[in-house]
Amino acid sequence: ALMDKGNYKHFMAKEIHEQPEVLGHTLSQYVDYTQNKANVAGSEQLRFKDLSRLVITACGTAYLAGLVGKYWFEKYARLPVDIDIASEFRYRETPLSSADSALFISQSGETADTLASLRYCKSQGASIGAIVNVPESTIARESDVIFPTIAGPEVGVASTKAFTCQLAVLAALALQAGRERGTLTFEEEAKLVSELTELPTLTLKALSNEVEIQKLSQQLSKATNALYLGRNTSFPIALEGALKLKELSYIHAEGYAAGELKHGPIALIDENIPVVVIAPFDAIYEKTVSNMQEVAARGGRIILITDERGAAQCGTSPETVVVLPEMSDIVAPIVYALPVQMIAYHTAVFMGTDVDQPRNLAKSVTVE
Ligand code: G6P
Repeated sequence: ALMDKGNYKHFMAKEIHEQPEVLGHTLSQYVDYTQNKANVAGSEQLRFKDLSRLVITACGTAYLAGLVGKYWFEKYARLPVDIDIASEFRYRETPLSSADSALFISQSGETADTLASLRYCKSQGASIGAIVNVPESTIARESDVIFPTIAGPEVGVASTKAFTCQLAVLAALALQAGRERGTLTFEEEAKLVSELTELPTLTLKALSNEVEIQKLSQQLSKATNALYLGRNTSFPIALEGALKLKELSYIHAEGYAAGELKHGPIALIDENIPVVVIAPFDAIYEKTVSNMQEVAARGGRIILITDERGAAQCGTSPETVVVLPEMSDIVAPIVYALPVQMIAYHTAVFMGTDVDQPRNLAKSVTVE
C-alpha cells in the first residue's frame, strides 16, 4: 500500500500532496512543541558551540536544501557555512581538520559523489552528520549522527517531499545551533519554533492554489525557455523551480538571484520568456519588485508568487499573481517550494512527458 499512487495520476502528485502531513511528522521529531524549543537529538556530535564553520555537501535538490540551510545557520546561529555540490567538493582538496563538522544531505543516502565527499571529510578527521530519508543507507551508516527526514518512501524521480522535509530538519538544526551558540534568546527561539509549527497548515493552504497553477502551467508549456528569480532564501527556491521545470518538462530553465539579473540574463528577456518571480513580502521585497519592473519593461511575462501584501504592492508588471497566505520568514522557503513543484508538475503533464521517470534521469545516482 505504501507504493500505491492512491487517487493520484503520478507518484509525484501524491508526494506533493503528502507534504503537510510528512512535514508534521518530521517536525515533531525535531522540535519540542510544549516548550517551543528545537530538540535535535545527537546535535552535540556536530559541536556547534565550538565550530568556526560548517561544511555542507549534497547533490541536486538536496544541495538546494543545503543552500537554504546556509542562510538559516548564518542568520540564526551566526555560523558560517561553506556549501558545495558533492562532485566539486570531492576533488577540490578543501582544508579540513578534526575541529570541523560536515553535514551531508541525501534523500537516498546512496549518491556516489555525496558518499565520496563524506569519506573525504572523515579521512580528514571531521565530525560527520547526515540528513537522510533512508536510515539504512550507506551515508547514514557511515555518519557519526543522522537526522532522518520522516518523508516516507519517495518514488517520483524528482524530489519533492524529501526536499521540504530536509528544509524542516535544517531549520530545526539552525535553531538548535543558535541556542547552543548563544545567538538566539529563549524568546526568539520560542517564536521561531512556533512559526515552524504552522507548516502543515500553511503548506495545505499552498496546495489550494493548484487549479490556478494548472492554468498558468498550460501557458508555460508553450515556452522554450523560462527564468526563475528570487532573493535571499527565495533564491535557492528559484534554482529549485528551474531545476524541476527542466527535469520534468524539458523546457530550458534557469534560476537566478534577482539582483544578478542585470549581469546577464536580462539580455534574454523578450515577450517569449516567462519569468517566475518568487517574492514573499519581506524586508527585500521592494528590491525584487524593481527587478520585476526591469523584466516587464523589456516585455517579459511575469508570474509572481507572493502573499497578500506582496500582491497589493506589486504594481502592474506581473501577468499572473499566485497569492499565498502571509507567513514568517523562516517558513517561507518551505511553503513557496510547493507552488514551484506544482508548476513543474502541471507543465510536464501538459507536455505529456513521463513525470515520475523523466528521460535520462535516475532516482539515485550511485555511479559517478
Ligand atoms: C538525483 C535525483 C534528484 C536528487 C539527487 C540527489 O538527481 O533525481 O531528485 O535530488 O539525485 O539525490 P539524493 O538521494 O542524494 O538526495
